[in-house]
Amino acid sequence: MLIAQISDTHITGPGTRAYGIAPMAENLMRCVEHLNQLVPQPDLVLLTGDISQDGLAEEFEHAASLLDDLSMPYYVIPGNHDDRVGLWATFGGQACPSRAGGFINYVIDDYEMRLIALDSTAPGKSGGEICEARAAWLDKTLSADPAKPTLIFMHHPPLKFGVIETDIDGFEGADRLAGVVEKYSNIENILCGHIHLPAHTRWKGTVVSTAPSIGMQLVLDLQLKRDEFTLVDPAFLLHHWTGDKSLITFYFDVDPGDGPFPFVDQS
Ligand SMILES: [Fe+2]
Ligand SMILES: [Fe+2]
Repeated sequence: MLIAQISDTHITGPGTRAYGIAPMAENLMRCVEHLNQLVPQPDLVLLTGDISQDGLAEEFEHAASLLDDLSMPYYVIPGNHDDRVGLWATFGGQACPSRAGGFINYVIDDYEMRLIALDSTAPGKSGGEICEARAAWLDKTLSADPAKPTLIFMHHPPLKFGVIETDIDGFEGADRLAGVVEKYSNIENILCGHIHLPAHTRWKGTVVSTAPSIGMQLVLDLQLKRDEFTLVDPAFLLHHWTGDKSLITFYFDVDPGDGPFPFVDQS
């Protein structure tokens, strides 16, 4: 099974750029084109939040018009730049198959891996949040099948990654979430976005991974002073659930670079 993960698309209205400079619609188009040409094709695409720049209806509609060109199913969850109600208005019923208690929480159970979408947003806040209701929903959902290999996908990573977006903006209810996650041994990975950098760490008996943005890369400042981005080529993650039942994660730039060359002397 192959899962492509793209994140933090920050789509603005047609003809504009995120922060006046980042060509995110063009980047998303390049990503979609690249994914459609992959052999073998991903079974599905997960978008891990910050679909829009400002949570506006025209931004969600613009994003949907670009994503609808994907030749495989795609699924979205909200990020802190999105608006839950607006996201549902555009994507509800398809790219968000269902909701639970007003949150964009749902399960995709049609594949070899079980995929659980968890809404980690809190209106008006940049940081993440898992409240009692969402923790209880997750616990109940995980307990329904504690054996099948499972992925959770949510926008905010639930621990400090050494960058402003996690260490200062924070995550309300991280301990509550941890209390649920550590009860289950079948969670292969928690796939996140938000920090605009690819990173991985061990957490509560599983792995937490973050995906790159499609072109707005965070300037890594481990002194937590600079909150800036650079414009890079769009990139995404490809998660391969192998025949040996290992989840292998690859990082891809959409730009193919020079080559390909065989591993023989080219001089
Ligand atoms: Fe973002
Ligand atoms: Fe975010």
